[in-house]
Amino acid sequence: MEKISINTPAFLYNDISELPNDDINLMQEAVEARKKAYAPYSKFSVGCAILLDNGKIITGNNQENAAYPSGMCAERVAIWKASSEYPNMVVKKIAITASSSERKVKNPVGPCGACRQTLYEYEFNQKEPIEIIFMGEIGKVVVTESLISLLPFSFDSSYL
Ligand code: THU
Repeated sequence: MEKISINTPAFLYNDISELPNDDINLMQEAVEARKKAYAPYSKFSVGCAILLDNGKIITGNNQENAAYPSGMCAERVAIWKASSEYPNMVVKKIAITASSSERKVKNPVGPCGACRQTLYEYEFNQKEPIEIIFMGEIGKVVVTESLISLLPFSFDSSYL
């Protein structure tokens, strides 16, 4: 038996102003998307902005439903919107931000497990890493250089 450890390299910024200009711009697009979220039940709004290698930015936000499980996360709304419009897209970066009408979200909010798996499908297919940039409403920002670093021992189509 051998004990192995999985490394999750990430960069931690004190706030959005420390990011490179392009990343600030992408995060601002995510903020605008977040403001349009439909989250009347959780009061937790998430915005996502996806930069493609053709320079296009596709955004999405969470969409909730009175039958709670029928809702959808911002990241999956955005990635499926992007993939449906640009079927052979190459994704460069994804910015995510979350806020709540009930409290200030100060900690970085990473994508949920289902979103990580969904996003990884595209990273695996394109064979190029996708940078993930995530924050709350204010405060620290986490940047990872790839999706795989957020999803070790991941499942992909090579297992099928
Ligand atoms: N949510 C997202 O949009 N993305 C995530 O990665 C985590 C959670 C949404 C789903 C739901 O509308 C609300 O946040 C509370 O869970």
